[in-house]
Amino acid sequence: MRLAVIPGDGIGPEVIAEALKVLGEVIPTAEITRYDLGAARWHATGELLPESVLGELRDHDAILLGAVGDPSVPSGILERGLLLRLRFELDHHVNLRPARLYPGVKSPIADPGEIDMIVVREGTEGLYAGNGGLLRKDTPHEIATEVSVNTSFGVERVVRDAFTRAAARPRKHLTLVHKTNVLTHAGSLWSRVVEEVSLQHPDVTVAYQHVDATTIHMVTDPGRFDVIVTDNLFGDILTDLAAAVTGGIGLAASGNLDITRRNPSMFEPVHGSAPDIAGQGIADPTAAVLSVALLLDHLGEHESARRIEASVAFDLATRDHNSPGGTFAIGDRLAALV
Ligand code: NAI
Ligand code: MG
Repeated sequence: MRLAVIPGDGIGPEVIAEALKVLGEVIPTAEITRYDLGAARWHATGELLPESVLGELRDHDAILLGAVGDPSVPSGILERGLLLRLRFELDHHVNLRPARLYPGVKSPIADPGEIDMIVVREGTEGLYAGNGGLLRKDTPHEIATEVSVNTSFGVERVVRDAFTRAAARPRKHLTLVHKTNVLTHAGSLWSRVVEEVSLQHPDVTVAYQHVDATTIHMVTDPGRFDVIVTDNLFGDILTDLAAAVTGGIGLAASGNLDITRRNPSMFEPVHGSAPDIAGQGIADPTAAVLSVALLLDHLGEHESARRIEASVAFDLATRDHNSPGGTFAIGDRLAALV
């Protein structure tokens, strides 16, 4: 197993060190190559993602990323030039974000019930495609456009993936989240594709919700969701909310997948570089560790993935949530458990 690791900025390197500790316990033969992309490299050389590095990354089975972003770098440079560029270049069209309330974890919702959902977020289109620009910049007549791109091909492949995942889960339920009443053009395409693909999955029940209503139900009745399929922006926002109701951003893992497997998929915690707590050794590495489990699942190492999830579940059920221990302590516990 050849893995490229991009620890990145802020708490990225801190949580990645613990994730690799746990990985080392289950796949001791994994070959790790580190890439120092992120804020420090950009300051030193002006480079974000050199072509040569991109070529080398392609030569790995998967990529593990901590987080990128730093207050010293103007907003958008690293996010667009490195993170989004990786997702686009490596055709990471399925952004997979599970949200599960583990036993022992306190949800900010008083009576959350069982929560176990997967958000399948489109990863290469929508408002994040970079289709737009500024005209008449710095004049009173400045125009800014940001155009949402939705292709039949792009929507269909992510919807197909979501149906396949729903069909393999006990509840076999899929919710399309959009805003079809206002975004009628993109909404029409998404609705028609879901309807067409649903014909091939008669065992999967299908629901539709507007994105604004979804934020209500995510808080009042999160247990209703099984698989959610949605576009890039809605998925980004909803998964922070899903993470919050299932115990916080320190637990939320994600995968950026090229389902065709032509390019390596990339796994990362949902959270960012958290400059407010970086360097203090208090970041929760659990999201990074669970991202390793997603990575192993993608590479067919299901038994190892289950071991990591079971270790996390045990730790979350038994940890003192008021003082869970620091980054190292949690990593050490998970490595010992696994
Ligand atoms: P953030 O996720 O870094 O932090 C939000 C809040 O959650 C902060 O209060 C932070 O302390 C807390 N937090 C995050 N991860 C945690 C963990 N593992 N344990 C405990 N607490 C944790 O989001 P924010 O502050 O909006 O962004 C900071 C930087 O990260 C920005 O430059 C942003 O662009 C970047 N970013 C990068 C992402 C990535 O690399 N995939 C994703 C999101 C943001
Ligand atoms: Mg986000």
